[in-house]
Amino acid sequence: MGPSRSVALARTSIAVWSTSLDGLSVDASILSVDERTRAARQRSGPSRNRFVSARWWMRTILGHYLGVLPGALEFRAGRYGKPFLAGYEDLDFNLTHSAGESMLAVSTSGPVGIDTERLGEHAYDRAAARRVLSGHEMTLVEQSNDRAEAFLRSWVRKEAFAKARGSGLDATLPAISVGPGPRAACEGWWVIDIPASSGWAAALAYADPAVEVATGPDQQWSGGSQLEFNRGIPSDCTEGEAAS
Ligand SMILES: CC(C)(COP(=O)(O)OP(=O)(O)OC[C@H]1O[C@@H](n2cnc3c(N)ncnc32)[C@H](O)[C@@H]1OP(=O)(O)O)[C@@H](O)C(=O)NCCC(=O)NCCS
Repeated sequence: MGPSRSVALARTSIAVWSTSLDGLSVDASILSVDERTRAARQRSGPSRNRFVSARWWMRTILGHYLGVLPGALEFRAGRYGKPFLAGYEDLDFNLTHSAGESMLAVSTSGPVGIDTERLGEHAYDRAAARRVLSGHEMTLVEQSNDRAEAFLRSWVRKEAFAKARGSGLDATLPAISVGPGPRAACEGWWVIDIPASSGWAAALAYADPAVEVATGPDQQWSGGSQLEFNRGIPSDCTEGEAAS
């Protein structure tokens, strides 16, 4: 049984859900023509299955919060691709998936962005890091004993921030620092590290400092669980300076 809309969103304005996409029992018939076309374009069978599972899972949770059949939801995209729901613009949400793990943030309190990445997938790439991290963030990554992991942990915060803004990975990112630390306030946005499966890093960004992000008790539903976590200790948002 799922959470009722009044319970789940009255208690907390941002709910974060997490699931493993492999092995979900999915009804692909609720996907739109556009989603099926995108699924067909995926490079391999496993990627296709994960794409379909993620869309089904997101539709099921959003449909439940809204009291709408999951298949009736109509997604639209903003200028840089951030999805929103036609007719339900006051409910913001954001999906992320990496190597079979997926997370979904649902907010009644303004824009949210979420990102998760599997650790250990890639070697540290300094040139790639410079394209998104500020000078301050670069220094901390370079000083770390495990630069690949430090970069990825910085990266998920920066990407969650970019996804909350809906701007995509644009050229302004190196001018902004969103950490490190469990929580940072930057240009009116808040960025926090959130718990992820072992071997993954995850971060959440949101606009309203007054919202209650912590969720709980854990709820198991639709093959996923709602996370329970603390908002963390505030840390300073260091002024970003482009990496040199
Ligand atoms: C948003 C972005 C950072 C996501 O990167 P990623 O690591 O591949 O993906 P994640 O798994 O974390 O998130 C993917 C989900 O984010 C959502 N998303 C897509 N674009 C988004 C955006 N601009 N902002 C926030 N969320 C977005 C979608 O729900 C997507 O899920 P889907 O693939 O099932 O549709 C990347 O796609 C991007 O930079 N997009 C912008 C592209 C752009 O600038 N286009 C120019 C105009 S068309």
